Amino acid sequence: MQQVAAPLEDERAKTLEIIENNNHDPKRLVKILQEIQAELGYVPEIAQRLTAKKTNTPASQIYGILSFYNFFRLFPPGRHSVNVCLGTACYVKGAENILKEISSRYELEPGQTTNDRRFSLDFVRCVGCCAIGPVMTVNGKVYGKMKPEEVKDVLGEYK
Ligand code: FES
Repeated sequence: MQQVAAPLEDERAKTLEIIENNNHDPKRLVKILQEIQAELGYVPEIAQRLTAKKTNTPASQIYGILSFYNFFRLFPPGRHSVNVCLGTACYVKGAENILKEISSRYELEPGQTTNDRRFSLDFVRCVGCCAIGPVMTVNGKVYGKMKPEEVKDVLGEYK
């Protein structure tokens, strides 16, 4: 499902509600941050600051958690979610070159969103289609036996 980032006030209100529902408990930081991401599609800076303040936790600790778990997103999601599989089977078939092609073509690193919010990029560790690796997915649609020169045409379909 495509998610659109909420306006700042909405992000603030939803973050406060989630923290309140978790009793401001610093032992529930990961859960709180997961719930924020589920609600907003990412963990915006305002949510990071509010979580630190309302749970009486140093901001550095919040950032540490967000950096440690690679499922947390610090940028708003794009309209199209691109994932490159870096599982072993895809990796040995050149998946890293697919990732590099996307990164250089769209100035995009894993975990980021393009400035125009067109694409978000992430990598995954196996989507269960190892036989057709290297694999890339766009909004869940699988593209197998990808070659770097095919990236432009595949992603060009997504405006
Ligand atoms: S390793 Fe890429 S689909 Fe399994």
